[in-house]
Amino acid sequence: MAPVRVSVNGYGTIGKRVADAVARQPDLSLVGVSKTRPSFEASIAIERGYPLFVAGEAGAEPFRAAGIPVSGTLRDMIARSDVVIDCAPESVGRQNAALYQQAGVRAVFQGGEAATVAEVSFNAAGNYSAAKGKRTVRVVSCNTTGLARAAAVLRERYGVEEWEATLVRRAADPPETQRGPVDGILPAMRIPSHHGPDVQTIFPDLRISTMAVVVPTTLMHVHVNHVRLVRPPPSAEAVLEAFRQAPRFRVFRPWEQAGGTPQVMEFARDRGGRRPDMMENVLWEDGLGLTGKDLRFFQGIHQESIVVPENVDAVRAMFELAPDGPSSMAMTDRNLARAA
Ligand SMILES: NC(=O)c1ccc[n+]([C@@H]2O[C@H](COP(=O)([O-])OP(=O)(O)OC[C@H]3O[C@@H](n4cnc5c(N)ncnc54)[C@H](OP(=O)(O)O)[C@@H]3O)[C@@H](O)[C@H]2O)c1
Repeated sequence: MAPVRVSVNGYGTIGKRVADAVARQPDLSLVGVSKTRPSFEASIAIERGYPLFVAGEAGAEPFRAAGIPVSGTLRDMIARSDVVIDCAPESVGRQNAALYQQAGVRAVFQGGEAATVAEVSFNAAGNYSAAKGKRTVRVVSCNTTGLARAAAVLRERYGVEEWEATLVRRAADPPETQRGPVDGILPAMRIPSHHGPDVQTIFPDLRISTMAVVVPTTLMHVHVNHVRLVRPPPSAEAVLEAFRQAPRFRVFRPWEQAGGTPQVMEFARDRGGRRPDMMENVLWEDGLGLTGKDLRFFQGIHQESIVVPENVDAVRAMFELAPDGPSSMAMTDRNLARAA
């Protein structure tokens, strides 16, 4: 079977990582990526052999002036694709939806779009089958992906009666110097925050409520979770083992001296690979406690990369390239690890 032709519209924080991930999957082929203006990212895309297409109003002239070759317009890229992974800024995806529909191509959207942008919201561990054969899928946001992955493990093993989470959110991604706060802690004045309902797009029956604060850091989010389980686990160690056995979790041991987000991201830099990314949910052994049915744990979420493998799995589900979530996740993760 010929590889599914995938293009990536929007080549920023998420798009450039998704493009790299797609390029490493033998059952997918990367048609190209699109940008609205020249930048160092555009040059790097060309260096990597990714055809570059022009999105937006400004046209190809700024690229020509910068000496960056382009392969056509966004419409040309879409016409050569079976599916577009839309990684444009929040809300732009919804505007692009009409383009994809007119061209008769399938589309994957990101969590910055409202759930109504697609037929189904997606998490590989949570509801892989729901995306099978679909024409439009939305990969939920970084925080929702992290919560959904953890929920998939806990629901299956122990059942979840109720989940309360406080999200300590990074203020900006590292290159986003225009965003803040630089100092201070900003409570999100919407209670519950939107994250709980977003998790319910994956698990409609999950009783989860979330609050959030934004803090001046760029590295990661941290979730403070209190989960009341239905069946009491035998021990905290049993829960840790369940997380260790699940795909896309990294549980740090105390001796690893990775007690916070700076050390976790230093670990990501040290272990190598093209980018210092942490696509796994990060847990800490000594950051998990159990009292009867009450489980409390921290988890770290690398906002720039956690959704990347889920985008690959979303395409596999849509085109039914793998029978189920675990097979697709294993395939994706193996190909990403090989590339590292
Ligand atoms: N960053 C995160 O933490 C994170 C995590 C999970 C999900 N998400 C979601 O992923 C989506 C993308 O977020 P991001 O953080 O990657 O944003 P981003 O870093 O701002 O990247 C988006 C890129 O799209 C390009 N762009 C602008 N207008 C466009 C248009 N009309 N058509 C195509 N491309 C356009 C911009 O580059 P040029 O103008 O240079 O072309 C920009 O670099 C959003 O829905 C967001 O909510 C983000």
